[in-house]
Amino acid sequence: MSTPSISAKVLGLGTYLPERVLTNAELQARPELDTSDEWIVRRTGIRERRLAADDQATSDLSTLAAEACLADTGVSPDAIDLIIVATVTPDMLFPATACLVQRNLAARRAAGYDLLLGCTGFVSALATAAQFITSGSFEHVLVIGADTLSRITDWTDRSTCVLFGDGAGAVLLGPGEPGEGLLSFVMSNNGEASGLLSMPAGGSRLRITPEVAAAHLDCIRMEGKELFRLAVEGIPTAAEDAMRAAGLGPDDIDMMIMHQANIRIIEAAAERFGFPPEKVAVTIDRHGNTSAASMPLALDELRAQGRLSAGDRVLLVGFGAGFALAAAVVRW
Ligand code: ACO
Repeated sequence: MSTPSISAKVLGLGTYLPERVLTNAELQARPELDTSDEWIVRRTGIRERRLAADDQATSDLSTLAAEACLADTGVSPDAIDLIIVATVTPDMLFPATACLVQRNLAARRAAGYDLLLGCTGFVSALATAAQFITSGSFEHVLVIGADTLSRITDWTDRSTCVLFGDGAGAVLLGPGEPGEGLLSFVMSNNGEASGLLSMPAGGSRLRITPEVAAAHLDCIRMEGKELFRLAVEGIPTAAEDAMRAAGLGPDDIDMMIMHQANIRIIEAAAERFGFPPEKVAVTIDRHGNTSAASMPLALDELRAQGRLSAGDRVLLVGFGAGFALAAAVVRW
């Protein structure tokens, strides 16, 4: 990546997690699922996850995260030029969730759109937003990663329903000095593997009829084992490419934040680069897999714990449906 005279800097951060906690014990208590806390913890690292309230949709979670982010920066809604919402659970297919957030925030000047790329969406949205800042087109771009996966979860399928949770996180990008903010990014798709993780119905391919709904085709379908293999194979290359593009190596990284899909995937990547546990973000035990929200939620938690300071170099790695991979290095 060439070095522009303006960088895209993270000006602030805010998140929202719904109040309702769903524990493994509650899932274990449902005999038809035939699952256990022991299996879920051992195979995934998840202990509990949050669920949105009945009257909350992705735009509501996004708005609360965005308000927290704006409060963090002191920037007013009127100063936002663009809102990008990374999500696979928009309130509806259209209008874009970004339009609903723009209304809720009264961000009168802001344009906006959604970026549908599953768990990779936050990193790709960050890279997209940065282009508008470094080109000088926009001054303030709000990037939101938000998902309400509980609404597209097949609650009768134990191989997926134990994995997912709801949440939202937002960062505001603005102009910074060279060497601040987003230092590099890489993005790739392997469309050949797109059948491994999908929601087959509800788009232009398959209408949601009573039969389709009865077959749960309007829910997440996932071939977990094969995705696991693709993730463990692909993450090191994406991470290495992003570090190289930033002129850095693993020793220069202060914190690695990966998409939180499975503790075993996170640990495999950490081991590959020799990152000790204190350099690795883990929120999956309490949040489950929140798709596009997982990385901003982790950033906020690290900051609250005093583990993220100005100047830190953060490696972000997202992966998921597509099969898509995106990695970035950010100077905090
Ligand atoms: N409780 C008890 N047993 C279970 C459960 C459960 N909740 N789920 C599956 N099992 C059983 C299976 O039926 C199988 O039984 P069998 O051996 O009798 O057939 C056994 O456990 C092993 O199942 P696997 O699917 O092989 O389990 P695995 O160890 O692969 O773990 C998991 C499954 C957790 C889904 C894992 O494959 C994974 O994390 N995959 C990666 C997911 C991912 O990265 N997705 C991309 C990002 S997500 C996104 O984009 C939204």
